Order: sequence, then C-alpha cells, then structure tokens
Amino acid sequence: MADKKTAPKKPAAKTAPKATSRAGEKKKSEAGPAPRIQPTKRLVDSLCYTAAAPESEKIAADLRRHVTVTLGNDFDRPSAYTYSQGLSYAVRDRLIDQWIKTQRSMYENGTKRVYYLSLEFLPGRFLANSILNLGIEEDVEAALKGTRLTLADLEEQEAEPGLGNGGLGRLASCYLDSMATLGIPGYGYGISYAYGIFRQDIEDGRQVEKADNWLHYGTPWGFQRTKHLYSVHFGGYVRPYTDHEGNTRFHWVAEQRLKAMALDIMVPGYKNGYATNMRLWVAKADKAFDLQFFNSGDYIGALENKIMSEKISMVLYPDDTEMAGKELRLKQQYFFVSATMQDIVRRFRKKGVPWTDLPKYVAVQLNETHPAIAIPELMRMLVDGEHMDWDDAWATCVRTFAYTNHTVLPEALEKWPAELMERLLPRHMQIIYEINRRFLQEVAMRFTGDTERLRRMSLIEEGEDKQVRMAFLAIIGSHTVNGVAALHSELITKTIFRDFFEMYPERFTNITNGVTPRRFLAQCNKPLARLITEAVGDGWQTHLDRIKGLAPLAEDAAFRESWLDIRKANKQALGSLVSDLCGVRPDPESLFDVQVKRIHEYKRQLLNCLHLITLLNRLRDNPGLEMTPRTVLFAGKAAPGYAMAKLIIRLISSVAYAVNTDPAVGGRLRAAFLPNYSVSQAEHIIPACDLSEQISTAGMEASGTGNMKFALNGALTIGTYDGANIEILEEVGAENFFLFGLRVEDVLEKRRGGYDPRAVCTEHPELARAIGMIATGYFSPGEPDLYAPIVRSLLDGGDFFMVMADYADYVRTQDEAARVFADPHEWAKRSILNTAGMGKFSSDRSIMEYATRIWGVTPLALDT
Ligand code: IMP
Repeated sequence: MADKKTAPKKPAAKTAPKATSRAGEKKKSEAGPAPRIQPTKRLVDSLCYTAAAPESEKIAADLRRHVTVTLGNDFDRPSAYTYSQGLSYAVRDRLIDQWIKTQRSMYENGTKRVYYLSLEFLPGRFLANSILNLGIEEDVEAALKGTRLTLADLEEQEAEPGLGNGGLGRLASCYLDSMATLGIPGYGYGISYAYGIFRQDIEDGRQVEKADNWLHYGTPWGFQRTKHLYSVHFGGYVRPYTDHEGNTRFHWVAEQRLKAMALDIMVPGYKNGYATNMRLWVAKADKAFDLQFFNSGDYIGALENKIMSEKISMVLYPDDTEMAGKELRLKQQYFFVSATMQDIVRRFRKKGVPWTDLPKYVAVQLNETHPAIAIPELMRMLVDGEHMDWDDAWATCVRTFAYTNHTVLPEALEKWPAELMERLLPRHMQIIYEINRRFLQEVAMRFTGDTERLRRMSLIEEGEDKQVRMAFLAIIGSHTVNGVAALHSELITKTIFRDFFEMYPERFTNITNGVTPRRFLAQCNKPLARLITEAVGDGWQTHLDRIKGLAPLAEDAAFRESWLDIRKANKQALGSLVSDLCGVRPDPESLFDVQVKRIHEYKRQLLNCLHLITLLNRLRDNPGLEMTPRTVLFAGKAAPGYAMAKLIIRLISSVAYAVNTDPAVGGRLRAAFLPNYSVSQAEHIIPACDLSEQISTAGMEASGTGNMKFALNGALTIGTYDGANIEILEEVGAENFFLFGLRVEDVLEKRRGGYDPRAVCTEHPELARAIGMIATGYFSPGEPDLYAPIVRSLLDGGDFFMVMADYADYVRTQDEAARVFADPHEWAKRSILNTAGMGKFSSDRSIMEYATRIWGVTPLALDT
C-alpha cells in the first residue's frame, strides 16, 4: 500500500523458545560435545565481485553486503524493510561517484552556480526515482530475483520526507531534478525538519493530525556532515565602533549561538552521470552541556541550551493561517539563511576574486519570501564583515538575488513584527531600516509629492505594531521578480506589486511552472511510458516537446485501445488502494473524477461537493436514471488552524458516506476522501485519473502544478480560466478541455457589488436543494448545525470564492464531461491529445528559462 507508515515489523517467532533450565544444560552436556558452527565459506567472500561482473550481479552483491555489513542483518532471513535499506545503500553507492564527478567539474569549469533557497522541499521517495534516473531498473529487478521480494515491495517501505506543504515544495524538488538532468551547476538549500508535514488520519470524517517522524529509522539517503558546522547567532545588541580609518562600523554582539550541520542528499540527473546536491540544515547546540549548570548539579539546566537550539529544525510549519509573529518560524528562516549564505560565501572565497564579482559566480533564487532575510544578511556580511561601501554592497546584492512570488493573495504576503526582528536580529533590522530610507528617497525623487505612495511602498508597515513587509524587501533586493504562470505574473503587476512594477517594470517577468516528466510519468506510470516510447521513441523523458508525436495516434483506433487498456489497469490498481484506505471499492469502468490538493476555500472543494450532492439527488429522484458511472475522489490536507478547511473535509466525508450507503445509488456513484495525501500517494492517483478538477476561483491559483501532472498522464481537465490552466488549455486545445466559470474580470466585477448568492441559489433548484440538505443536517444526523458555517459563508458571507456563482456552469460542464466519457474512443482521443499537448510543461523548460533569463548560468558538459 502506498501510504502506510512503514515501521519495520518484528519477525514472528518461528520456533518455541529454547529451554534454558539447568536440566536443559545438563542434557546438552550429556549429549556429547557442543555442535560446531557449520564451516561455510566466509560471508565476506560472497560480497565481492569483479569489475567485469554484470551490473545485476554487482547490485545483488552490494545488497547482500549492505544488509549484512552495513545494517548487521542476516541476509538469509529477508525482511522487506532491511532489504529496502540495503538496496538504498547499494543504489546510493552508484550515485556517489556521479556526485563527486559533478562537484569536481563545477570547480574545474569555474562557472557560475545557482543556489535555490527554499524552506520547503517535497522530494518524494528516493529509491524508485534514483533507480529510474540511473537507468538500472532491469538490473535491480534481476538482482532481486530469488529473494521473494519485489522492487515494488521494497519501494513501499521507504518513509517519505514531507519537508513541505504542497505545490511550492514539490516545485522546488521538480526544479532540482531538472537542474540535475540539464547539468545546471546548482544546489538546493533547505532545512531537514525532524518532523515534516503532519500525517493526516481521517477519524469519523474528521482530520486528525499526527506527528510525522520521517527520520525515526534514519535515512540511507543523507550524508551527515558532522564536522562541517556553521555558527548561527541570534539576539544581543549592535555595538558601533570606529575603525582605524575613522569610519563608523557596526558589530553584532549576539546572545544565542547554535550550529548548523549539513545533511546532503544527492539528486541524480536522468541517465546523464550528473548528481546535484540538496543540502538540508540540521540545528545543533553550540555545546551540548553548559558546564556551569552541570557542575552546580542542574542537569536539566545543562541540557536546556541543547534542547532550545535543536528545536529550530524540529518541525515544519504547516502553512497555517497565522504564521506572523511565530518566533520559531523567523528563527528557522534566519538559521537556514545564515548557514546557507556562509556556505555560498565559503565556496566563493576559494576563487580569490573581488567581492563585487560575486554575481558573476553566484545566483541566489529565493523561493517565495521565506528566505528573503538573505538580502540583509548578505549586506551585513559585505558591509560589516568585508567593510564594503554600502552602495557597492547593495549593487552586489541586487545582482545576486532573484525572487519568485507564488501568490496573489495580499493576506498571504509575509510580514514580520519589527519588534520581533529587532529582538532576534538587531543588526538586520538596522540594515532593513537603512535599505528602506534609501529606497524611499529614490521613490520620492521619482514620484515627487506622492506621500501616499511612500506609505504604500515602505518596507515598514506603520501601525500599532510595525511590520516588515518581506515581499517588498525581496523585490527591491532582487534584479528579477517572477510569477509562476502568465496570468499570475500579469496580475501581480496590476495588484499587489503595482507600485513596484511602476518603479521597476524591467524587473518583472513570468516563468510558467513545470513538472518533471521523470517522476510524474516515466516512474509513476510505467505502462503508459512504455507505450509512449514505442510510439514516439525514447528521448521524450528529457525532451518533452517530442511527446507531441502522439497527436496523430489519437486517430488510430488500435492505439486508442492500448491507451484505454493501460488506463483501466491503472484504475484497477488505484481502486485497490481506495478500497484498502477507505473501504470503498470503485468501479474501474466509471469516470474517475479526482480533486487532490491542499484543502482551501479558493480551491473550491465545496463546488465539487455540491456537484456530488446534485448527482446523488438525481439518482434518489430517479433510481432508473441512466448516468455515466462516476467515482469522485478527494485527498488533501487542511492547515491545522484553518477551521473552515477542516469542516469542508468533514462535509466531504459525510457526503461520501451518504453516497456510498444510499440504496438508490446502485453503484453508479462512489465517493471517497483518501487520507494523508503525499507525493507517493499522488504517484498512485495521477495515472488513474480521468477528470482532473482544477476549479479554483479565477485569479486565485497562482499556477498549480497538479493540473500539469494529470494532463501529462492523459486526464482531461475540468477547470476555470485560472493559473496555468489557461496555458494548458492553449496547448491541448479548447476542444480537449472542459472550461467553465467566471473569468477574473467577472469575479472582480461581482465582488465590487450587486452579487447576491441567495438569489443565485433560488434560481437553481438543484443548488437550492443541495444547500438545503447541508443546512438542515441531512449529512449530519443528530448535529443539524454542524455545517452551518459553510452555509453561512455561501449565503450570507458574500460567497467570496464565487461557489454559487459558478455552480450552474460547473454542473453543465460536468454533464458534458459525463456525456463524452460515455464514448470511450472519443474520450481516449482527447486523453491522448492532452498528453501530446503537454510538452511545454516540463520543469526542464522552466529551468532553462530561469538559467538563461534570470541566472545567467550554462549547463555543464559532462562526459557520462
Ligand atoms: P564544497 O563545494 O566545498 O561543498 O565541496 C563539495 C565537493 O566538491 C567536495 O567533496 C569535492 O568533491 C569537490 N571540491 C571541493 N573543493 C574542490 C576544489 O577546489 N576542486 C575540485 N573539487 C572540489
């Protein structure tokens, strides 16, 4: 199963315990001399191989060696867990060579490097992806022959590192995969949270959060650099002094010190002999024991420093409603940035060139504003540490940094209380004030007399509690700011960053997101990948534009047949998973209608749920109704503090229960909420989806990347004119995309006034009925008011997300999708054309755009 926690199981005792009584001992001695250990060939002899041995034999020997020598287990007593670990080490052995070669060639080429800074990474499981990218799958399968364990068994044992919340973190991992595949000299930097995103259980329809200790059993994939530590400081005060040339300088006298230790995880390129590095920082105490306390007998006090320091990398913040003001989160950000910048600068120093040359050798990409404190940190290093002139330091900074924005929601822009920053990072706060003073002077010169503009653009939001606006800091400290889809990049210049666009129009650009076709097609959908390779040849994995060669085959009935067979098998496999996880067995012939993503009001799982209720009612009214059988699947986590999102999960579970237990439904409709959505669960769901729900309120989803993964695997999208949906529609053709709903302008128009959700409700009897059922407790027997907050937000709260306004068009479009699905060949044709149209959405294309248009880095030529 995809998603179960994979604790090593205790082996069942095969024999009764041996008697150890004195009588027993006596018997033994009476029986003669103790039996000798079987004289076998020494174990280590069977662990060696010659260079000429076939790869499968080498892997088999390495597996045996790691299971025995590295892990201390008996190879002849196979356990999926130890074999999985042993195989991971054997695969890692094959990466290290590549990694060292890559690192050396970066030095030897001396070219510019890019550093991708992200507080989140969602790499997914490593084993399957490493095997794929190394191109050793057949050898591994052969090596496992005779072990009674399959590769799939072993892959399922791996705990997934959930070091991110969703799209932003997964994007960072797709980008590392592409950097490695393209040979871009670069690194990913992040935090090794001991506890990643929480594990989601669904209990009585409710989300219950459990701690996810992904490192509980250690990971074979990371190299701990225990000797490679950086010192990170917090608190204290700033001491001004005069240097020997009479200049006033500043020295930060910090109060708290801790260490950052690197955990390196190798990221292999696709069959190119290249491996880049994801360096994750772990917080360590500066000194484990405070001897002063220890000697005075205060044992706990002595350990306090260790506990306080190490908690910094303990847990990932789950994208909560209220992040601002969380001291630990700001500490995480600075801890990460400080260690990373020290590491970057250490490498740069080896060059022995002037500091003003930093941007010639270093590009730093800020994934959202979470690492934006890197800008004042570099200023501090240059001005305080290197005594660089302010203007030169600032010019160096701006030429080094670039910033990716991921949201159009003003409330999602990060702000930190100035008071908190002053306390934790006093020197940085001074630097921010100085950056702001100079910047506002520039604004005042450009827009004379516009004091309102100065207030709007200031890095400091004035008020009772002053706040530092991190997005503004990121914009003015970067040479390029990019949005993540064409519409999003346009919207930010008109809304949240309008003033900044007027000031620096040349800084703003778009780079549409992409996804790696390795993990999200070649790895997760092997049968389809094989069929595609037969059709268009090998090479689409790294040149995804070649996949357009499938388009003519949409007209080929035999090819469509093969396409449908594969999809059906994928749906059967997902059906078993749904059955295991939710106790609901979907009909593989039915339309698999899937919405998997974070639960958020703007993503509108509610709209999907209202449609589900509508279908239920149609069946209840007319049990003989001929309808396209449908399975509606949901998955996704809600932020623990986001009450409405959690209530939506509960409603979906309740409606699913009603659907699955209503005798009138007769198997034509099934619904389930899959617990604990994750990258590995996505890999099971994506290949089996017919209809991909991308139904956010227009103007609210920056890009989306799930939309790309589904279409790449042949799902048709039902979607709004939002984010990257628009570009998908352009690429696959409007006739192969179920578009519905309001456009951005319509949404804004309605929000300006005159929109009455109650009137809309009355206009559409099916909608009124669905809402009425929720409001009167049909789905919550005994608790009629349970879902009242949902009903209120739709009817009385202004329906900000336009659920009611889009309902009718959505249902009409769903009916159209069901009609098309009833003709399998028509559906297959459109499905093939979706896959064929996805060439643009490879993360390789995105990364090449970053490399040429933002970073100024060129791929390394490696002889593989
Ligand atoms: P780092 O770049 O110092 O973090 O080192 C990473 C890896 O790069 C090392 O393990 C070496 O394989 C390689 N490396 C480091 N410094 C040099 C150098 O000066 N020349 C060539 N390779 C180097």
